[in-house]
Order: sequence, then C-alpha cells, then structure tokens
Amino acid sequence: MKDISQRAKQYIDQLSLSVEKNTPYVTPLTASLQANKWCNSRCEYCGIWKNNPGNPLIEDLYLAVDELNELGVQMISLTGGEPFLNNDLYQVIQRMNDKQVISSTMTNGLLLNSKHLQPILEAGLNSLCVSLDSIDPSIYKSIRGVSLAPVLKGLKYVADIRNQYPMLFVFSVNCVISKANIDGVADLVAFCNDLDISVGFQPLHRSFESRYNPERLQFHTEDLLPLKRQIEKLVKMKQAGSRIDNDEAYLLGFPDFLVYKRLPERTICTAGFTTISVDVDLNVRSCWPKKPIGNLHSQKLTELWHSDIYSQNRASMLGLDCPKCWLRCHTDYLSVQWLMNLLDKILLAKSIKSECRGEV
Ligand SMILES: C[S@@+](CC[C@H](N)C(=O)[O-])C[C@H]1O[C@@H](n2cnc3c(N)ncnc32)[C@H](O)[C@@H]1O
Ligand code: SF4
Ligand code: SF4
Repeated sequence: MKDISQRAKQYIDQLSLSVEKNTPYVTPLTASLQANKWCNSRCEYCGIWKNNPGNPLIEDLYLAVDELNELGVQMISLTGGEPFLNNDLYQVIQRMNDKQVISSTMTNGLLLNSKHLQPILEAGLNSLCVSLDSIDPSIYKSIRGVSLAPVLKGLKYVADIRNQYPMLFVFSVNCVISKANIDGVADLVAFCNDLDISVGFQPLHRSFESRYNPERLQFHTEDLLPLKRQIEKLVKMKQAGSRIDNDEAYLLGFPDFLVYKRLPERTICTAGFTTISVDVDLNVRSCWPKKPIGNLHSQKLTELWHSDIYSQNRASMLGLDCPKCWLRCHTDYLSVQWLMNLLDKILLAKSIKSECRGEV
C-alpha cells in the first residue's frame, strides 16, 4: 500500500506542475465512453430516451478503448444512453480487461438480470454503478418514469451473486439529488448499505437536454436551509461510517449549486487533466458539458491530448470559463486528498486485477 501511495503522490505532484504550466505532464485517470445514446427509461431530467434506438459499431468502441489505453487512461466508464441495451457491451469490457484497464459501467438497472449481466461479469467487469433516485416506488416513478420494482430486484440479484465474481471490486448506486427525492436520501443510503452497496450522489443539472418541470425538481431560495440540513446529515452519516462515495467538500457544494448554480469560491477545475469524455460518435470532449474538440475517426488521441486546442480548453476550464457543472465524474476529484484516495484505490484495483489473472 505504501508503494501505491507513493505512486499516487507522484501523480498529484505531476498534476500540480501540469496545472501551473498548463501542460499535460499527466494523462487522465478516468474516461467516460458512451456505449450508445438510446434508452428504455423515461427520466424526467434527461432527454436521451427521446433518441432513436441504435448501437455504435463495435469497432468504433474498440478504437476508443485502444486510444484511451494508449493515452494512459487507468479506468474507463461505459455510459449511455443505457449501456445494457448494447449487446456488444461484454466484448468492450473484455477488450478493457485484455488491456489491463479498469472497466466500469453505469446502468438504470432495468436489465439487471442473468441474461444481460452474466456475459458482462464473465468478461471481467470491475465496477458496476446503478442509478437509483429513490426507494419509494411512487417518487421513483415520478422522476424516472418507469417502475422501481425491476431495479430493486436487480440490485438484490447482484448483491446475491457478486461473490462469485472477484473481478467485480465495486458495486455502487448513483443518486441524482433533486427536490423530488431529497427527503428520502438518508433512507436510500441505509437501504443500499444494508445490501453492502455504497452510494454516491450527484446534483440535478439543468444543462442536459431535459424536459423536466423546474417547479417539481428544482430547488428555490426558500429551499436552501432544509437542503443544507439534508446534505449535512449525509456528511455526518459518512463521518459515522455510512458508505457514501463522494468527497465531503463535493457534497457541501450541492446546496449552492442546486439553488444558485454557483460553484464554491476559488474553484479551479482540473478535470481537463484528470478525465476525458468520448461520445458515441467518437467526438472527444475535455468534459461532458463542453463542445467536442476533436474526433477519433480522424485524429490520434495522444496528439489531440498534447495539442494547442486542448491546452486552450484546459486554460478555460481552470478559469471556469465553462458551463460550470458539479458532475461527479469531473468535479468530485477536485480535492487533492480525495484524488489521492481515488488513485490509491485504482492502483490497488489494478494489482488485484493482475492477481485474478494469475500474473503476480
Ligand atoms: C446519462 S446516465 C447513463 C447511464 C444510465 N442510463 C443510467 O441512468 O445510469 C448517467 C447518469 O447521469 C445521471 N443524469 C442524467 N441526467 C441528469 C441531470 N439532468 N442531472 C444530473 N444527473 C443526471 C443519471 O441519473 C445517471 O446516474
Ligand atoms: S438518465 Fe439514464 S436511464 Fe434515464 S433517460 Fe437518461 S440515459 Fe436513460
Ligand atoms: S466545472 Fe466547467 S470545466 Fe469543470 S467539468 Fe464542469 S463544465 Fe467542465
């Protein structure tokens, strides 16, 4: 472990230098890769489900995995749309496994059954994250437009079989905090923790192509104090040992973001160095809310990473000349201690992965 912390510290030092000089001496730790952009859910805050069905060519996803791996990305998270609707998903995970990249995917949980899961777990999936906004069936349906029952069944199914898959290091839930579910988030943590599932939170964003009714999901000035109380409750639960995956500073940023769309003072966003996003058409973004800066069909990712256009993007990100999100995949990593812990976990996971493959 000491060795791992040493490597994590080296990364942080290189990251500081990268920020100081606006030059990438590091490569991203994590990447999000869109596995498709259609969906079988009906979430009120997300417009993706209005897209036509269709999956990308597997060759395109392989190309993205290969390019991200060549760049030095440690962990790739397959997102969507709904990734489980792509029947090639297991092959993409296999590709990551072959390349020693940590594989992760995020799902709405509607297809967490043996038919869809088994190929994915057998391919060596390392991290499975299920979106769950409420454990109350009517609140869940009012936010996500579909029934909660198959998701809960699926969570229990994974909880039952996970021990058969030692490569599955992480099994977690992601909950989007909005006005509709805030009162139930502590119960949701308790429910998930009882099943040995950790929970991470992300605030509702208005910038996605959504059709949600702001009055129902959105917080207003008069909601600030009760919202702060709920967030402080979560922080206390975390301090008391509940398994909540976010950094405390990130959680404490929720009220101002949700009510005023304001980020904490003196935030500099380092996501342009630590993460990278590739969409289903292989457009590359320095973070999801920003416009594409290149495409893997016509450019090598390593060249793009070191290009002037990428540097200009990073400079604008450091100065928050951007849509200003508070997305987990980008801004939960802004605290150095948190990043250090994340790195420790990634490096440890990589060594466990090698052990599972009989390489140590
Ligand atoms: C776009 S979904 C893709 C994966 C999968 N379909 C799912 O729902 O887990 C990834 C995550 O983004 C969250 N999300 C979608 N729209 C959002 C919004 N407007 N604000 C905050 N989070 C959002 C979802 O709840 C989900 O946890
Ligand atoms: S959040 Fe996920 S499950 Fe909901 S509509 Fe968007 S892609 Fe589908
Ligand atoms: S805060 Fe700005 S630069 Fe950072 S990830 Fe969000 S939109 Fe991108």
